[in-house]
Amino acid sequence: MEARSVEEPKAVEDLSEAEARAELEMLAQRLGRANRAYHTEDAPEISDADYDALRRRNAAIEARFPALKRADSASDQVGAALADGFGKVAHRIAMLSLENAFEDGDVADFDTRVRSFLNHPGGLRYTAEPKIDGLSLSLRYETGRLLQAATRGDGATGENVTANALTIADIPQHIADAPEIMEIRGEVYMSHADFAALNTRQAESGEKTFANPRNAAAGSLRQLDATITASRPLKFFAYAWGELSAPLSDTQFGAIQRLADMGFQTNPLTRLCDGPAQMLAQYHTIGAERAGLGYDIDGVVYKVDDLALQARLGFRSTTPRWAIAHKFPAELAWTWLEAIDIQVGRTGALSPVARLTPVTVGGVVVSNATLHNEDYIHGRNSAGEEIRGGKDIRIGDFVQVYRAGDVIPKLADVDLSKRPVGAAPYLFPEACPECSSPAIRAPGDSVRRCTGGLICPAQGVERLKHFVSRGGFDIEGLGAKQVEMFYHDDLLPVKTPADIFTLEARDTANPLQSLKNRDGFGDTSVRKLWAAIEERRTIGFERFLFALGIRDVGEVAARDLARHYHSWDALSQAIDLAYPAALRQIAADEAEADERAAAADSGRRAQPAKIRAAIWEAGPPPPEALAAWNELLSIDGIGAVLAVSLVTALAPGGHERVAVDALVTQLREITPPAARASASPVAGLTVVFTGTLEKMTRAEAKARAEALGAKVAGSVSAKTDLLVAGPGAGSKLKEAAKLNIRTLDEDGWLALIAGEAGSQTEKDDT
Ligand code: IVH
Repeated sequence: MEARSVEEPKAVEDLSEAEARAELEMLAQRLGRANRAYHTEDAPEISDADYDALRRRNAAIEARFPALKRADSASDQVGAALADGFGKVAHRIAMLSLENAFEDGDVADFDTRVRSFLNHPGGLRYTAEPKIDGLSLSLRYETGRLLQAATRGDGATGENVTANALTIADIPQHIADAPEIMEIRGEVYMSHADFAALNTRQAESGEKTFANPRNAAAGSLRQLDATITASRPLKFFAYAWGELSAPLSDTQFGAIQRLADMGFQTNPLTRLCDGPAQMLAQYHTIGAERAGLGYDIDGVVYKVDDLALQARLGFRSTTPRWAIAHKFPAELAWTWLEAIDIQVGRTGALSPVARLTPVTVGGVVVSNATLHNEDYIHGRNSAGEEIRGGKDIRIGDFVQVYRAGDVIPKLADVDLSKRPVGAAPYLFPEACPECSSPAIRAPGDSVRRCTGGLICPAQGVERLKHFVSRGGFDIEGLGAKQVEMFYHDDLLPVKTPADIFTLEARDTANPLQSLKNRDGFGDTSVRKLWAAIEERRTIGFERFLFALGIRDVGEVAARDLARHYHSWDALSQAIDLAYPAALRQIAADEAEADERAAAADSGRRAQPAKIRAAIWEAGPPPPEALAAWNELLSIDGIGAVLAVSLVTALAPGGHERVAVDALVTQLREITPPAARASASPVAGLTVVFTGTLEKMTRAEAKARAEALGAKVAGSVSAKTDLLVAGPGAGSKLKEAAKLNIRTLDEDGWLALIAGEAGSQTEKDDT
C-alpha cells in the first residue's frame, strides 16, 4: 500500500461531527458553484473527474451522518449520474468452486483418489489452510499495476469492481517483482469487530443492517459508489491465481510465500502436510483456533502442493481435482417455532417458512428457517421415508436450528417433551395465500403449486423479475425494483413480458403524465430505459427461453434446447405436436403414483381422476406427436420431467403460451445460438483408449480428452474417430484397422493435443 500524501483529506470514518458539518457546507458551496458554472454559465471551472470526486465525498459523508444532510445538498440535484450497473468481466480462466468433505474419512478418500488418478503409489504433500467465509475476488495486474478487479459472478463472468477494490488497504496496487500478467485470487472478508461496528452505525443512521460478516463484505464491495466501499473496513487474503505469464513457484506453498513477499496478506495458519494424518491434525488445530480468529471461516482447504501434479490433475466441470474443502460441522441451537408462513415463488411453489424466536447460531441471529414442503413438515422426505424419526412439526414446538455454510437455516429436530398441550398437526393450505387459486400437488412432486399462473401476483411479479434478470433479458435500468413498481403501477402497468415492450408507446400516448416527470425518473434515465428495452428486441434464443421462467428450464437446459431447435418457430411447433404425448405421459405418471400411494397407504390425497380418464379414453397419441415427444427426450440433458414442464407450460392455447406469443410479436429477432467453438484439434471427436498407457493413467487420459471437447467411448464402432493404442492392445486395435479408423500411439496422441493444456479450464462459447 502506498503512503497517503499529506494533502489527502481525512478518511470519512475519522471525521468528527463538527468537521463533517463544516465540510458538507464547503462541499455545498463548491458543488453549487461548479453546477452553475457548468449548467448556467456553460463555462466549467473544474474537471469532470474532480466534480465526481467532490460529489462522491459529499455522498459518503452524508451516508455516515445522515442527520447533517443539507437542504441544498448536491446529492439531490441533477449532475453527473452514477453508473447504473457494474460492467462485466469475462474471466480468462474460470473461477471455480471446491468439492466438499464433511468427515475425516472423506479426506483419506480424497488422497486416495488423487494418488490413483496420478498412479502415484507414494505419499503426497498437501497444503492446509482456513476456508475464509467471504466472497472471492480476482485481481488482474499487468506489469505490476493493478488494472482490474472482478467478482466471481457465475464463475465465467463476474462484475467489474475495480474502483471498489482500489479502496481496500490489503490489496497492493503496485508490485515491483511480478510476472507481466498476473491474476491473483483470494477472499474479501470483514472481521467480527468491524462487522459489529458497521451494523451499529447502520442502525443508528436508519440504514439496513447485515445478517452476517459475509453479507456485509459482499454488500460493501458491490457498491456502485466506491466511496461507500472506501468507508467499509474490508480485508483480503490471497490464496490462488488465474492467468499468469510466468509461474509464481513450483509448489502451492512456495506460491503463497511469493504472494506474501509481494505484499499480499496470506493466511498465517497455512501449513504443509505430509498426507491425511497431518491434514486432519491441522484441521483440528484450525478448528480449535476458529473462535478466536476474529473473522469467519467455515472449513479447511487442502491443496496438492506440487503445481506440476495440480496441472496433471486438472479440473472437473466446476471444481479442481487437486483441492477439497473440509467443512466444519453445522452449528446448532434450540428455539421456539412461533408461526409457519407460506411464501409463493415464481413457479407458484408454496414454500413454508418457520418464523422462530430469534436465536444465535454460530454468531448469527436466526429468526427464519426453511421447512421445504408439506411432507417435510409431516416428517417425511421426498421418497416418503421417515425423517426426524417421523416426528412432525407443529406451531409452538421447541425446535433445533442449524446453519451449514451459506445455506438458509434448517430445522434438525423437535423436542416432543416441550410440545404445547393441544398443539394440532399443521394443515398445509390448499389454496394460494396470494390469489386464492387452488394449490395442487402434481404426482411425484413434493411441492404444492398455485394454479393461478400470471393472474397470481406472487408469480406474475416474480416471473417478471426473473424475465429481466441477468441470464434473461437483462434490461439495463429495469431491475427487480422497477419491475415491482411497474407491476403495481396504475398508469403504466407491466403485468406480462410483452407489456415491457409497449411501455414507451403507452407513455408517449399520455404526455400529461410522462414517466420522466415522476420521482426517481428524469429525461435522461427514461430515454436510456427506452433505448435499453429497444436493444433487447433482438435477443439470443437461449436467453429468451431461460427468461420465460419455466419450471426446470434453467440456463443449461435453455441452451441445450436452443442448440437443438435453433428457433422459437421450430420449438413452438414441436411443443404443439408433442402436447398430446406429454399429456399421456402425465396420465401414466399419475396412475403409477396413485398405485404406489395406495400400496403404501400413505394417505396421499386423491388427484382428480377425471382428466386422466379423458386422456386415456382419447387413445394413444398420433405418431407425429410421439415423434416430436421422442425427439425432445432424445436431447442430451432433457429428461421426462423437464419435457413435461416445458410442454405443459407452453401448451397450445394456454395462458402462458398466449403471453409468450404476445411477447414474440414484440420482438425483432430471436437469434439462434452460436455454434460450439472448437479450438482444440480433438473437439467433437469420439476417441477410444486401449492397451497400456505409460505416461498417464486411463482416468487422466480420459479427463484430458474430455476437457478438450472429445467424447471418450469404451468400444470401437463405426462412430469412433480415433483409437489411441498402447502396448498390449488387442481386439480393439484389430477392429479399428478393419473399420479403417485413425490410430495413434500414446506419443502420437500427446503430440496431437500438445499446446492445448492451457485451455483446460476455459468455458465453452456461451
Ligand atoms: S481455493 C479453484 N482457498 O471457497 C478453486 N478457496 O467453495 C480455488 N475460499 O470460491 C479456490 N477460502 O471463494 C480457496 N483458502 C481458500 C479459500 C477459498 C475461501 C472460497 C472461494 C471459493 C469457495 C469454494
